[in-house]
Amino acid sequence: MNELNIGLFGFGTVGTGIYTVLERIRNAHASIKRICVRSLDRKRPVSLPEGILTDNPDDILNDPEIDLVVEVIDNADAAFRIVSSALRRGIPVVSGNKAMIARHLPELIYLQRTHGTALLYDASACGSIPVIRNLEEYYDNDLLLEVKGILNGSSNYILSRVFDHGESYADALEKARRLGFAEADPSFDIKGFDSLFKLVIITIHAIGVYVNPDDVLACGIDSISDFDIRYAREKGTKIKLVAQVVKLDNSRFTLFVMPEFVAPGKYIYNVDDEYNGVVIRGECYDRQFMFGKGAGSLPTASSILSDVTARHHNYRYKYNKMSYDGLPEYTDDVSLRVYLRHPKPELPHGIVFDKVSESYVSDLGCYTVGDISLAALRANKALLDDPDVFICNFPRFFLDLD
Ligand code: HSE
Repeated sequence: MNELNIGLFGFGTVGTGIYTVLERIRNAHASIKRICVRSLDRKRPVSLPEGILTDNPDDILNDPEIDLVVEVIDNADAAFRIVSSALRRGIPVVSGNKAMIARHLPELIYLQRTHGTALLYDASACGSIPVIRNLEEYYDNDLLLEVKGILNGSSNYILSRVFDHGESYADALEKARRLGFAEADPSFDIKGFDSLFKLVIITIHAIGVYVNPDDVLACGIDSISDFDIRYAREKGTKIKLVAQVVKLDNSRFTLFVMPEFVAPGKYIYNVDDEYNGVVIRGECYDRQFMFGKGAGSLPTASSILSDVTARHHNYRYKYNKMSYDGLPEYTDDVSLRVYLRHPKPELPHGIVFDKVSESYVSDLGCYTVGDISLAALRANKALLDDPDVFICNFPRFFLDLD
């Protein structure tokens, strides 16, 4: 088997992990030829061969000996420029950049098809769990009912530390950063955007439909308070940041990211720390559950290297489901049951529940529980972003099947 010469973009947490793991694997049939970094002067945690580093992307993109580009940089715009340039030159790419992929998927699919090359990105969703390749290859669209789970390691780590270890939110966030789980800008993790990007990527491989992330509601855990945690405990639940894509019937599906009250009987109840857990539900097989480390240098590197190995066998995503007849359409016309904590006794102006089932007012906090449409929540997203407001979902779909 020929050795693949890799041009690596990015040498942060994940890039270093890739380099370290590749040194240890005997049957990788791949080696890193050049590494493109932003700053040549920065001190590196591993010793590197002389001359391997460059700060000029063209040193990789124009090198005819490079067989594969691996892109693991933070900046989504720069990542798109690199990945699209490589694909245009016919160089296959492995990437873990969920923001870039979720925002540019239609164009990236077009580039792959036009230039007869491949982009693999299993590391972009759920770290070490091979969820994308699994959905792409195994689960048939007609039978798939929902994909739901914890897709962000940092927020899950924070919630675990707060719920199970009584730590403060700020300390837990700081630890998530130190351990290399959090994004360069951790607000992507805690405000739900990282989960949203992963969900958009999962959706195209699960259902065959691309949904622009700007059209999807993503609420995070950044405004969670002791008041909310106490409420969840009183109900015997934990709060987890959950992303879900759900088929409502044969012609419609919905997707959103929101904190959720998770009961002990659920698979994801015991998914703690930086672990991710994904439940795949189908008509014939009820539920299947995938569990694994969702963040961190080596788990993410292992997923990147699995894609590198897949390229040895010329593997590519075929996106077959996108050409199925009668694909369902995305809708936000769906009723959710939510808990909404708000600063004043009255609901924030503009938020109208279809049905209120519980309402509580005290000096410590106020909340309303009831039914409201996803469309109404999307229309009032700015109100939900108020730091004194926290929203949490009560699961509603497929409860009779659990
Ligand atoms: N910041 C991400 C997370 C890294 O916490 O899940 C892995 O995608």
